[in-house]
Amino acid sequence: MTPNSAHRWRRPLLRTAIAALAVTSAVALVPGPSATAAGRATETVDAMAATTLGAAAAQSGRYFGAAVAGGKLSDSQYTTILNREFNSITAENEMKWDHTEPSRNNFTFGSADRIANHARSQNKQLRGHTLVWHSQLPSWVSGIRDANTLRSVMNNHINVVAGRYRGQIHSWDVVNEAFADGGSGQLRPSVFRDVLGTGFIEEAFRTARAADPAAKLCYNDYNIEDWNAAKTQGVYRLVRDFKARGVPIDCVGLQAHFGSGGAPATFQTTVANFAALGVDVQLTELDIAQASPTAYANTVRACLNVPRCTGITTWGVRDIDSWRGSENPLLFDRSGNKKQAYDAVLNVLNSGSSGSPIQVGVNYRLVAQHSGKAADITGASTSAGAVLQQWSASGGTNQQFDFLDAGGGYFRIRARHSGLVLQVSGSASGADVSQQPDTNATGQQWQVTDHGNGSVSLVNRLSGLALDVWAASAADGARISQWTYTGNANQRFQLQRS
Ligand code: G3I
Repeated sequence: MTPNSAHRWRRPLLRTAIAALAVTSAVALVPGPSATAAGRATETVDAMAATTLGAAAAQSGRYFGAAVAGGKLSDSQYTTILNREFNSITAENEMKWDHTEPSRNNFTFGSADRIANHARSQNKQLRGHTLVWHSQLPSWVSGIRDANTLRSVMNNHINVVAGRYRGQIHSWDVVNEAFADGGSGQLRPSVFRDVLGTGFIEEAFRTARAADPAAKLCYNDYNIEDWNAAKTQGVYRLVRDFKARGVPIDCVGLQAHFGSGGAPATFQTTVANFAALGVDVQLTELDIAQASPTAYANTVRACLNVPRCTGITTWGVRDIDSWRGSENPLLFDRSGNKKQAYDAVLNVLNSGSSGSPIQVGVNYRLVAQHSGKAADITGASTSAGAVLQQWSASGGTNQQFDFLDAGGGYFRIRARHSGLVLQVSGSASGADVSQQPDTNATGQQWQVTDHGNGSVSLVNRLSGLALDVWAASAADGARISQWTYTGNANQRFQLQRS
């Protein structure tokens, strides 16, 4: 969300908040700042803050969900938090193959139904997880070697499971974790790939569409949050191919199981690039080791920054419920108390915008943190192709840049003296950044990573690489090119209004 578009979405946001106020007590009116008579109405409404994750997310039309373990629905502390805070539910295990079809054509829905019934009775959205997955797969399936048999078994499973919940599921993880870890960018070995070939994914999606036409159909995976990862690229190619050929796919689930540092630097780039293919993006299994409030806030902000990032699910409710419980990765502690990360997430959801440090239409000097020197178009040239360097701050207009909304959470960066915009010359590390006529090509689009206090890194959409002062030099004339994101001081620029 850019400051520009923040204005555009303010009204629907408030309408939704007011509607939410009418039906639930989850939105509280807090006193506005001392308002003038003319400003009072606006300020009072602006000061409305939702008090639960679900209501806060709903202000921008998003959901905020949790994975639910059926066995915990009898724990009153658990259900109190679940019912109060979350407006979407994913069955953590109960809709998986080993639970729903433990032996051939013997379907068991007791525990899955319990979760679906809870969602319905509590008026929560229900995510379906998952129809086709190599794991938690009964051995009677993984042992099949005949393609016709496996095809029929897979399609029957999808038809029966998706058919049972037809009309009740917001989104189905149709295929889960089909891509290999590591650098191949290819599908992982599995009975489905090995016996049916790579086309099993397409077949699963087509079958799922027919079985429940109202459900959004997602491809879901982990370690596809870093744009530079081969696995991410493999999934991106799959989705792009499906969209190009009209294979039904509506969403990509980024599981978002993060280490203590949170999301990778290119996370928003990844979210925006998938969204740009014409699919929704959902963060489907979010948890962050040690639950740093900043890491959580940045992750949620990245989603808010991309209009088609439509919802977030944490993988569990309390730390004690988490599959990685020893890392305390969730928003509620073992006793069910809200953690600092909870407050951070709620604040971001309530901020009504991403809290982006960039204001469109303002001229900034970009001052490199390590050197104190300003980004500068060499020689104050007004010609296309003049490259970016750092130079002592001069007050010149060749050191002044404003940001243009490029859509999808990206910006173009325009040099004031020339009207040309910064562009990378390719995808290689070390490639020049120069000024060029504005075409809004992806090489001219930059994602802003906010380090707080007006300090940002700028990651290019085409290359996934960050604006970087060469070799962290402090000299006048050092080239500013692009390099793998490190977040080091020679990639951090202070936004100084000029
Ligand atoms: O309930 C039984 C218990 O009775 C038994 O004694 C015990 C012995 O190991 O197992 C218990 O079941 C475990 C189940 O979780 C419930 O806690 C299973 O062993 C265990 O394998 C299962 O783990 C689940 C895991 O998927 C299986 O791969 C986790 O709960 C679940 O959170 C996790 O979720 C996956 C997503 O589906 C896909 N993405 C990754 C994510 C995390 O691994």
